[in-house]
Amino acid sequence: MDLERLLSDRLAPAFATVAGGPVDPLVRRSPRADFQSDAALALARRLGRPPRDIAADVLQHAVLDDVCASAEVSGPGFVNLTVADGALARMVAALAGDDRLGVPETGTPETVVVDYSAPNVAKEMHVGHLRSTVIGDAAVRLLDWLGHRVVRVNHLGDWGTPFGMLIEHLVDLGEAEAADELSMGDLDSFYRAARGKFDADEAFRERSRRRVVALQGGDERTRRLWRLLVEQSERYFLTVYELLDVTLTGDDFRGESAYNDRLAGVVEDLDALGLLRASDGAECVFPPGFVGRDGEPLPLIVRKGDGGFGYPATDLAALRHRTGDLGATRLLYVVGLPQRQHFAMVFAVAGAAGWLRPPARAEHLGFGSILGADGRMLRSRAGESVKLVGLLEEAVARATELALAKDPELDAEAAAEIGRAVGIGAIKYADLATDRGKDYVLNWERMLSLDGNTAPYLQYAYSRIRSVFRRAGTAARPDAPVVLAEPAERALAVELLGFAGVVAEVERNLEFHHLAGYLHRLATAFSGFYERCQVLRAPDELRESRLLLADLTARTLRQGLHLLGIRTVERM
Ligand code: ARG
Repeated sequence: MDLERLLSDRLAPAFATVAGGPVDPLVRRSPRADFQSDAALALARRLGRPPRDIAADVLQHAVLDDVCASAEVSGPGFVNLTVADGALARMVAALAGDDRLGVPETGTPETVVVDYSAPNVAKEMHVGHLRSTVIGDAAVRLLDWLGHRVVRVNHLGDWGTPFGMLIEHLVDLGEAEAADELSMGDLDSFYRAARGKFDADEAFRERSRRRVVALQGGDERTRRLWRLLVEQSERYFLTVYELLDVTLTGDDFRGESAYNDRLAGVVEDLDALGLLRASDGAECVFPPGFVGRDGEPLPLIVRKGDGGFGYPATDLAALRHRTGDLGATRLLYVVGLPQRQHFAMVFAVAGAAGWLRPPARAEHLGFGSILGADGRMLRSRAGESVKLVGLLEEAVARATELALAKDPELDAEAAAEIGRAVGIGAIKYADLATDRGKDYVLNWERMLSLDGNTAPYLQYAYSRIRSVFRRAGTAARPDAPVVLAEPAERALAVELLGFAGVVAEVERNLEFHHLAGYLHRLATAFSGFYERCQVLRAPDELRESRLLLADLTARTLRQGLHLLGIRTVERM
């Protein structure tokens, strides 16, 4: 039911015959026809023939009559394809009767671990964690919908030497007072106060050091205080997740400390495999191919000089747990690009140790930074990193205000619901609609605008369709005959048939801006259709068909937005 795929499947055997081996027909949308295939150009050199000849030969062999109204060679050697209206109508009709909008469940379900969000205990979540949470949650929703077994892991930073000073600070404050401060989300000031004492006060420093030893040694009282810090932070993070409307729950926390009793085993096994080298008192692995600026091999430090294990050892233990115990074959790590090298090295070492073997594979889904209006890293006026909740609350407040400005009659409850859906949706969409690897500028006006590639534009398109049905007083009949009379409704049909293809692509590359871009094209095609084609006042047969197209558009927008973690509203 995926049009691009269908055409590609029709061209592939013809290309294979002409080229004498398998060829990807490289079918894509075309400015001249509905679709075009570019593969003849790439074959020219190999076959020693002019591309236009190859394209013509391919058209001789391809069976297209039942789907295409025209298929012709164009330009330097493209194959231009125009789909027959009858075929389009048939496919749209099939789509309308399908709850999954043409998207099949996967035939090869696998266990996928998505490592995302991962803020640090007793530290404020920052915008980097926002990106991780939003992107990771979209990955979870998409893969789950496709029928994979998805395990969410919130790899909380809940271990390490800073916990000595944090616990000592907690002791100084008193448990009740500390719990209070932390549950209010005052994580940064808590952390800063601890840090300040640590830097200024030798006695505090000494206490902190001893505390780390007690924590690692399993001292009961120390453990209890540590749990208190972790629990209060988790409670706070959960309020952020709730506001952000993501699927992460308390059950998904599996912090660094969860791997403590596996760290020694990791190091022992790396040693037994002959992968360990001593370097400057630390125990390291030097995976081939990683060199520093000076050309020297780079170490992945698995055990520090002081005997402690660090971040890399924890990631190795976690990876081993995911492939070994959970049976995951796809491991996703949604973490900022500055950690790219860390993950590349962890994956290389895990591969060498046999913990990451095909079909299992790991992917670092890196992402860029969110920038302020000045084009620099987003900072508050005081120069601190921006507090995530503040950002979310501002988005909701602005969206609520805009909703009320647009419709002053709205009651408070309705305005709040719209404000939440649109405000949070706008934040998520601005993130997911940009190429993951790039930085982007946080721009309130742009992301809350009802025009352009924004969540409000798509949410508005959805609500507009819903209002058509309120006025129609009926639902669409999914078995209504589809009539594609006008170019604008034909164009809408072609877009509707592209959903499955985009979803399949995003399943592979998890680049959500492709899905966002698709939804934007779909909403734009709908608005062209709605401008040119009467719906409610059209003659009966056309009216039914147009209601079906409108309904299919609404369902696709809703499902697509849902996969991005964005809510739709019935009116706005
Ligand atoms: N807590 C880390 C940070 O804030 C991110 C952890 C990412 N996940 C992982 N498996 N290393 O930078």
